Amino acid sequence: MPKPKKHVLVCVQGRPAGHPRGSCQDKACGPVWQAFSDEFAARKLWESGLQLTNTGCLGPCQAGPSVLVYPEGLMYVGVTPADVSAIIDEHLLGDRPVERLLAPAELW
Ligand code: FES
Repeated sequence: MPKPKKHVLVCVQGRPAGHPRGSCQDKACGPVWQAFSDEFAARKLWESGLQLTNTGCLGPCQAGPSVLVYPEGLMYVGVTPADVSAIIDEHLLGDRPVERLLAPAELW
């Protein structure tokens, strides 16, 4: 597999109820993952050199759902399914990060 142009990591981590860190599963990361998967499939984004992976905890659990994009190493937090098209169109395809969703410096 060639090195991807951009790699999107979507946190799908869950934790037991009452865990002090909570998790992205508590904050409805499932529909976010599904929205990315659907968009990648519908638009054949793998053919554009983009890679999509679901993953465990990325760090800023309290602000999830969390989505990390490399090679920039930019973290999006509080992502909803409605935000997925903007991340794809503006950042992945347009090289303009979606500023309104970027994690604040104290988180990432
Ligand atoms: S559980 Fe998703 S960032 Fe920690």
